[in-house]
Amino acid sequence: MDALTQIAQLAKQQAAHDHSGHDFQHIRRVVANAQQLLAAYPQVDAFTVLATAYLHDYYDEKLVADPATVKTALSEELQHTVGLKAAQIQPIFFIIDHMSFAKNIDTHQSLDLAGQIVQDADRLDALGAVGIFRAIRYGAAHNNPDYDPAILPRQELTAANYRQPSTVVNHFYEKLFKLAATMNTPAAQQIARQRTAFMHPFLAEYFHEIGAQPPVTGESPA
Ligand code: ADP
Ligand code: NI
Repeated sequence: MDALTQIAQLAKQQAAHDHSGHDFQHIRRVVANAQQLLAAYPQVDAFTVLATAYLHDYYDEKLVADPATVKTALSEELQHTVGLKAAQIQPIFFIIDHMSFAKNIDTHQSLDLAGQIVQDADRLDALGAVGIFRAIRYGAAHNNPDYDPAILPRQELTAANYRQPSTVVNHFYEKLFKLAATMNTPAAQQIARQRTAFMHPFLAEYFHEIGAQPPVTGESPA
């Protein structure tokens, strides 16, 4: 079995119990997105990109109770079972440790091209029809309401307020409609724009059906 297949199996085992939108289907889509984006960058090491795409949520603090321990265990597994060298693991872990949306709110983390591709691949999975499913799933897993006219979208997300409860609808205004502008690669930016264009009429229809006005945020839902 080649290294990437073994890494895919590790990622699958780890994601097996997630119900918050970070299950193995998310991982698979991120890998597929990364594969697609890689086509424009033959000079980038595809193994690093794809291995990182598989492992990017493996020891995430929102998914595991003790990230440091899980990271150490993963490192052991990658060295002793998969047979990677420390020098191959280091760039994978660096990208994982610096790519998340949450880590980039207050300070911009510099990533090399491999990291930028994985970051775009992950962010694309928050948009479009898939993104709508994931936002609703996240809201349900965290007991957040779909919508509450009394809870206004925050003007500014910060690392401190990002994990505070909000509504699913607010999440579109606070983050999702702004994601396309944060894509690193031109190909991801184009896909992100298409997926974002799909989400706007979805929300406009939602507000139409419930007879409410969308919040005024400078972001038009239409
Ligand atoms: P990252 O893993 O890059 O830090 P998140 O964990 O914030 O990203 O996002 C993972 C998924 O959960 C995305 O689809 C995102 O849109 C969704 N999500 C995150 N926060 C919320 C929220 N408050 N309400 C609804 N969906 C959310
Ligand atoms: Ni992810």
